[in-house]
Amino acid sequence: MPSAGSPIVVLDSGLGGLTVVRAIRQVLPAEDIVYFGDTARLPYGSKSAATVTNFVRQIITYLYPLDPKHVVIACNTATALSMATIRSEFPDLNISGVIEPGARAAALAAGRRQRPVIGIIGTEATIRSRAYEQAIIRRRQLAKVFALPTPLLAPIIEDGRAVEDPLVQIALKQYLQPLMAKAINVLVLGCTHYPIYREAISAMVGNNVAVIDSADQCAQDVQRRLGSANLQRAGGAPGALRCFVTDNSPRFAMLAARFLGLEIEPPTWVSTDELHALASNSEPSAPEPMELRAAV
Ligand code: DGL
Repeated sequence: MPSAGSPIVVLDSGLGGLTVVRAIRQVLPAEDIVYFGDTARLPYGSKSAATVTNFVRQIITYLYPLDPKHVVIACNTATALSMATIRSEFPDLNISGVIEPGARAAALAAGRRQRPVIGIIGTEATIRSRAYEQAIIRRRQLAKVFALPTPLLAPIIEDGRAVEDPLVQIALKQYLQPLMAKAINVLVLGCTHYPIYREAISAMVGNNVAVIDSADQCAQDVQRRLGSANLQRAGGAPGALRCFVTDNSPRFAMLAARFLGLEIEPPTWVSTDELHALASNSEPSAPEPMELRAAV
C-alpha cells in the first residue's frame, strides 16, 4: 500500500518525459521521482499499439516493487495507445497520462469563442489514435480541430539539436505553417518532447495563439490527484530523482540537464532482456531494493 513517502514514477520513450518531471518538481518539490526513459526502443510514435503497450507493461512491471503512489505515463503516444489496457492490468496502481490534462487546458484556453479552432501536433501514432480530438470535442463540441503528425520533431530533439539549428527551424516552419493557415486559436503540443522548443513555437505562431504544454498541465493534474488521495509528501528536504534508461549513451545525462534545468546523477541502465523476462513472468520477482533518497 503506497504512502505519502512512496515515489512517483514517470515514464516515457526517451527524454521527453523529463519535461513532465521538471514541471512536477516545480509544483511538488518534496516528492521522490523515479524516471524511466526507454531510450533503446524509441521512437514510440511510429510503433503499433500492441508494441507500445508491451513496452509500458514491462516498464511498470519492473518498477512495481517500488510501490509507487502514482505512475505518470509522460508520453502522449503511450497514453493514447496503452492507457486503457495498462489501467486494467494494474488496477491497484494510480495511473495518469498527459492527454486528458492537455485537452482540458486546450478547451479552457479556447475561452469564450463559440467555434474555436484548435491545432494539435504530435507523433504519427498519437494523431492517428484521435485521442486528443475526442478529448477536446467532448469538452467543446463546436470546436474545429486540426491534428497534424510531426514525426521528425521527437527524433530531432533526442538528437540534441538546439532551436537555432537550421534543421529545427525548417522542420518547425514546415509543420506549423499549414496549421497557421487554418487560423488556429490554440495549439496543443501533443508530445512531451515539444516543450523544449516551446518558445520558438510560440514566437512562430504569434501572440494570438495559446500554446498548450501538456507537461505543465500533467504536473498540475498529478498534484490534484495526490492532494485528493492525501498522498502529498510534506515539505522539507527536496525530493530525490533517480533515472533508469534502456540505453545508456552519454547523450542522456548531457541532454537531461537541458530538459530538467539541473545536473542529474548518472542513470541506471536496465537491459531490455531483463524487461522482457520480467513481463513474461506472471509473478514478477522484485529487483534489488532501490535506494531513492540517497540518489539526489
Ligand atoms: N514523448 C513521446 C510523446 O509524448 C514521443 C516520442 C516518441 O515517438 O517516442 O508522444
